[in-house]
Amino acid sequence: MSTALPAANAEMVDEHAPALLAVDGVTLQYKTRDHLVTATYRVSFQVHPSDRFVLLGPSGCGKSTLLKGVGGFMAPVEGTIRLKGQTIERPGPDRMMVFQEFDQLLPWKTVRENILFPMLVSGRCNRAEAAERAWAYIDKVNLTKFADAYPHMLSGGMKQRVAIARAMAMEADILLMDEPFAALDALTRRKMQEELLQLWDDVRFTMLFVTHSIEEAIIVGSRILVMSPHPGQVKAELNAHQFSHDEQGGGEFQALHNRIHNMLFAERIEEERLHGRS
Ligand SMILES: Nc1ncnc2c1ncn2[C@@H]1O[C@H](COP(=O)(O)OP(=O)(O)OP(=O)(O)O)[C@@H](O)[C@H]1O
Ligand SMILES: [Mg+2]
Repeated sequence: MSTALPAANAEMVDEHAPALLAVDGVTLQYKTRDHLVTATYRVSFQVHPSDRFVLLGPSGCGKSTLLKGVGGFMAPVEGTIRLKGQTIERPGPDRMMVFQEFDQLLPWKTVRENILFPMLVSGRCNRAEAAERAWAYIDKVNLTKFADAYPHMLSGGMKQRVAIARAMAMEADILLMDEPFAALDALTRRKMQEELLQLWDDVRFTMLFVTHSIEEAIIVGSRILVMSPHPGQVKAELNAHQFSHDEQGGGEFQALHNRIHNMLFAERIEEERLHGRS
């Protein structure tokens, strides 16, 4: 990920610019002993630099599976996934998974050491370079005073900053976040969303963010891919640039919320009808 801030109009997606991440007609399957589960069916979307791209849909629609595909942990049986034009074949430090509650920080290492660690282990840069990058990103996420603190001394929001700084120090092109706030209480969740958006405003990283909350998708996302299950397919792709917590009570926010709700709900009614449960 570049340290340079993009132009002020970064949220205006140039449709003709090459996509950072291009998912094209991707079918992903699990082969179990006696089943073949089609988790996603011919899913396509494009993520551009500085997008806050959200995958939204009910349980089982293949959100996590798509992240596994982008992460390089699963190969499509049909279609391609390309990052900067290169087909993804394996996991790599250019795509960093940011896990739930940011518990991936090593508790016996300080903030600075946690950020240094993957750079040194991966051999991505030498010690001097790694140290310099670590300081730059600690500064960028406003944790200079906490550089020598251990994770247990940090708030959830600060841990999130460390996890993101660490991914950025590795110069990841895209952060992959799978329901990072799902287990949090409502107030903490809101605070974490605010912190994430504030950090994005400062640094403009690119993220692929998974949630099954319509509200969270509208607040966190600049674009939302609405998915339906069995198998996971794209229902719609929507813009949500203009919304944050401040607009939550407003008419436009509600209209988008209802539109997405109806899309997902209509699907459920149809499923129940097919399964004879209506
Ligand atoms: N390891 C696995 N083996 C077999 N089937 C799997 C496996 N993991 C997921 N699936 C199936 O693939 C489909 C998509 O699952 P996935 O976990 O991607 O959904 P999801 O959208 O992330 O759901 P949730 O919101 O519950 O996390 C589901 O039908 C699920 O049962
Ligand atoms: Mg999931």
